[in-house]
Amino acid sequence: MYPLNRNRRLRSKESLRNLIRESTIHPHDFIAPLFLVEGKNVKEEISSMPDYYRYSLDNIVKEVKQLWELGVQAVLLFAKIPENLKDNAGTEALNIDGLMQRGVKEIKNTIPEITVMTDVALDPYSNYGHDGIVENNEIINDKTNEILSKMALSHAVAGADVIAPSDMMDGRVLSIRKILEKNGFHNTAIMSYAAKYASSFYGPFREALDSKPGFGDKKTYQMDFCNRFDAVSEAKLDINEGADIIMVKPGISYLDILRDLKNTIDSPIAIYQVSGEYSMLKAAGKQGWLDQDKVMMEQLISMKRAGASMIASYFAKDAIKLIS
Ligand code: PBG
Repeated sequence: MYPLNRNRRLRSKESLRNLIRESTIHPHDFIAPLFLVEGKNVKEEISSMPDYYRYSLDNIVKEVKQLWELGVQAVLLFAKIPENLKDNAGTEALNIDGLMQRGVKEIKNTIPEITVMTDVALDPYSNYGHDGIVENNEIINDKTNEILSKMALSHAVAGADVIAPSDMMDGRVLSIRKILEKNGFHNTAIMSYAAKYASSFYGPFREALDSKPGFGDKKTYQMDFCNRFDAVSEAKLDINEGADIIMVKPGISYLDILRDLKNTIDSPIAIYQVSGEYSMLKAAGKQGWLDQDKVMMEQLISMKRAGASMIASYFAKDAIKLIS
């Protein structure tokens, strides 16, 4: 009771504030998402994501070396697939010599100690821009799982450390876990996008990969953003199917979900600060309306505070430069 208790006392100087700080952020907390594209010496800016690029494999290796030197120890790979290689069955996704599979090998050859995570979903490979196989305007669950598990296996064969299914089909974690075990990849982990919401924050990403759904939306597989309990249910199912890490996505608007999961499950939780969050802040920063660096750190720390063990973020490099 006042004046015995004055909360301002411990805020009175920087060194005291540092002592009582609860949440901090470290370079090792980050996962850097990276976009791969075919070609040589390509580094092309994504128009909807200022200062963020697609790289050809020769350049991605340089970028990953830089990230590693800064202290980023994990990357999450996405591949931009040429239009002529897209089909309904995602055939190119299984190509052991595909862009993604070559990307994994190149990166692991350059820095064997790094953790390479790969996105598993059909949308970049689908002529419909959907995460699964389409029949009569429906996304077919179980047939898609067969392909996703083969896709995951091809990533593991290439050397991926963590398979990250982002498709939201039911039962895909179990299909992937089974095929990995059967083929001896006992230590290949699964980071499941368990609580992935049908969000308009993914807009810039879909431009980056040219993967916009050709019809409809993703509401029959991604979650309704009006719901909380569905997230807990999804996370529990995926853990029972063998997921090692659970992801919440998007980030800043879903911190309540992150905290719900933190209070309910024991698995490590990742959060994805998605493309739309990145682009909004970049835009406001470039206009001078917000201090980009300060708002970025505030958002990233809020994700740690809410319970994230790791953060996938397009700001990984910017943030680490600030921290160190
Ligand atoms: C594809 C996938 C998406 C993202 C990650 N994996 C887009 C989507 O589901 O439409 C979004 C990432 C971002 O916006 O940064 N399955």
